[in-house]
Amino acid sequence: MIRTEGLTRRFDDMVAVDGLDLEIATGEIFGFLGPNGAGKTTTVRMLAALIAPSAGKAWIAGHQIGAGNQEIRRAVGILTETPGLYARLTAMENLRLFGRLHQLDHIDDTIERYLKMLDLWERRHEPVGGFSKGMRQKVAITRALLHEPEVVFLDEPTSGLDPISARVVRDFVANLKDQGRTIFLCTHNLDEADRLCDRIGVFKRRLIRVDTPQALRQNLYGHTVRISLAHPPSPNHLLALKGIDGVEKVEEADTDDGHTLRLSVGDPQTHNPAIITALVGAGAQIRFVEQEEASLEKVYMDLLGDDPPNTEAQP
Ligand SMILES: Nc1ncnc2c1ncn2[C@@H]1O[C@H](COP(=O)(O)OP(=O)(O)O)[C@@H](O)[C@H]1O
Ligand SMILES: [Mg+2]
Repeated sequence: MIRTEGLTRRFDDMVAVDGLDLEIATGEIFGFLGPNGAGKTTTVRMLAALIAPSAGKAWIAGHQIGAGNQEIRRAVGILTETPGLYARLTAMENLRLFGRLHQLDHIDDTIERYLKMLDLWERRHEPVGGFSKGMRQKVAITRALLHEPEVVFLDEPTSGLDPISARVVRDFVANLKDQGRTIFLCTHNLDEADRLCDRIGVFKRRLIRVDTPQALRQNLYGHTVRISLAHPPSPNHLLALKGIDGVEKVEEADTDDGHTLRLSVGDPQTHNPAIITALVGAGAQIRFVEQEEASLEKVYMDLLGDDPPNTEAQP
């Protein structure tokens, strides 16, 4: 649904987006994760045919940017970082005005459906100027969807929202995916990317890595299995683990609540049964077994260096 080849955008001497190669399938939620200034908004503006690339190519919904810009603008909806709405008009008036400007017919049903989904229907006759940031964001999201686009670009959709509004917006995004739309979600919020996205592209001027949230954690850090024991591990236990297939490393860790073995295991699903059998055979009393994963935050820090991710309070 979205494909780019060497997509690049320069501003004067500065390269904001450098040779982006991407492929995003229909119906996918793709998270574009990167710190402020990474070039996320610039990428979205190119893909939505709002600015031209300096080099490279891209296709959106089968249309190539450049020649197919008209068709692309019809196929995509975009929620920008600063949704300009008319403060003195009501939510309804803003949306109808936008519909008229874009020659969209029969949009009242669409408006009703989205405002209801976003919990804003009751407030539709109030001027937008009196709305909270979250409420304005909901109007802007509805506006981006009035023409029922196949591809939706959401640029930091929950940034600056209170936790409850952020939650409504996130649920709404998940719902859009269920409708089969393709969603390109820019965020610097790891938790959001983790919860919503099928795949995440970690991006800072260049695409650093693309994978599922889970694979990002696992591929980078392997698989650590924690086995909690009722008693301190004995040399027997450690001996029993020697030479078991898939066990790469064994560490002992004493924690407040007991004694733990931390094992690096090739594939826990395959290798855990033999590991546990061996330990029990050597007399170990196992309390519980769990898999440790690196937090996405750590992955992000490791991939991007010392740029701290900007995490917001989450509900
Ligand atoms: N219109 C513009 N003119 C000059 N520089 C720009 C323009 N738009 C963005 N930039 C620069 O490009 C870089 C990437 O910006 P942006 O795409 O907004 O990043 P992000 O959305 O990831 O925070 C920044 O350094 C920004 O200052
Ligand atoms: Mg931005």
